[in-house]
Amino acid sequence: MAERPDRTDSGTLAEASLAVHGGKLLDSTRALRTPLVMSNSYELPEDPSEISWSATAPGLYTRNTGVNQLALERKLAALEGGEEAVALASGVAALHAVFFTHVSAGDHVVVSDVVYEATWRLWTELLPRRYGIRATFVDISDPDAVRAAMRPETRLVCVEAIANPTTKVTDVAAVAEIAHAAGALLMVDSTFTPPPFYQPLADGADLVVHSLTKYINGHGDAMGGAVIGRSELIEPIKADAMVDVGGVISPFNAWMIERGSVTLPLRLRQHLSSAERVAAFLDADPRVAFVAYPGLESHPEHGIARRQFGGRGYGGMLAFAIDGGPEAQNRFVAHLRLITSGFSLGHDDSLIVHTAADGPRTATYPEEFRRYGHLRLSVGLEDPDDLLADLAAALEASEV
Ligand SMILES: Cc1ncc(COP(=O)(O)O)c(C=O)c1O
Repeated sequence: MAERPDRTDSGTLAEASLAVHGGKLLDSTRALRTPLVMSNSYELPEDPSEISWSATAPGLYTRNTGVNQLALERKLAALEGGEEAVALASGVAALHAVFFTHVSAGDHVVVSDVVYEATWRLWTELLPRRYGIRATFVDISDPDAVRAAMRPETRLVCVEAIANPTTKVTDVAAVAEIAHAAGALLMVDSTFTPPPFYQPLADGADLVVHSLTKYINGHGDAMGGAVIGRSELIEPIKADAMVDVGGVISPFNAWMIERGSVTLPLRLRQHLSSAERVAAFLDADPRVAFVAYPGLESHPEHGIARRQFGGRGYGGMLAFAIDGGPEAQNRFVAHLRLITSGFSLGHDDSLIVHTAADGPRTATYPEEFRRYGHLRLSVGLEDPDDLLADLAAALEASEV
């Protein structure tokens, strides 16, 4: 498949233009959208001995990179301002690909004490038990604690720009400096903060991970994950975690996610502005016990968020609790009509998940999360007035 002359090489295009044009590949049909290529194998060149097992280009075998995967990777690299990207089957596959490729037995990692459940499980249970890799969990908002946790054998620092689910914000530039001074890489899971809202590579991150399942696809109908960074860090992920371990993204999902990503900058604008309104609305209601949202002045990292995200917003995710215990929270969720109770986030639909107060996972959460439990809300693309009306009606019902 011949490549379309790259319209994104000049580095002069604005984010919305990159989201439309970045990565496109043109074939002999000259179709304007990259055609969906489902073939898992390709006719080999006359001399197949030229082909390396670990080759990472389309035209051989789809576990070595598919056409639609490549188009998606090129766009993601352009949107994040990174040299190269690898797209995999899910966000968790992308996280595991980083850990599997860049951390070895005997190494040590420093992990934020609030991270997505799978990252937490990988570093508390699976990787230490199976591979003898040690992990220290730290309060990532305390630079002294991060510095004190670094060891000579620390290979990776692992954070989320805005953490799932407490919305704790990492000062990426400050943590990058600490990681690099100790000779470690910084990996930022930026699933809550997709581009163009935030680009962690510009603040010194070495590797950016996304669950593409969320905002970047945006429509709740495909799974994928990606890692973006310098080629010297991405190429080994492709050779080891992609070709040898598998976990490749399906061509169809890559095509769907590339299609969804075209409207990412537009959609994000609405997610961010609606979330600010929803957070302010809930924060003003006396029946709400607390609201965690980086845009509120009461948020512990509000100052970092304001500086780091440059006034572009504070994310589309918030956590809160209703005063009145788990029964009131369940009643509240049961009475929502527009907002749906369901896992995942960053979809066009607003999604809410109710999590109980206690358990091993919540031990490092702020005190109010442990007292009340919490509801994690992903603010969707419905009209914000309709969302506020839905929340207001459910708050009334929660009191009964
Ligand atoms: C911050 C974060 N990282 C990674 C993942 C995993 O993504 P996936 O479900 O695509 O495997 C999620 C999923 O919710 C997430 O919230």
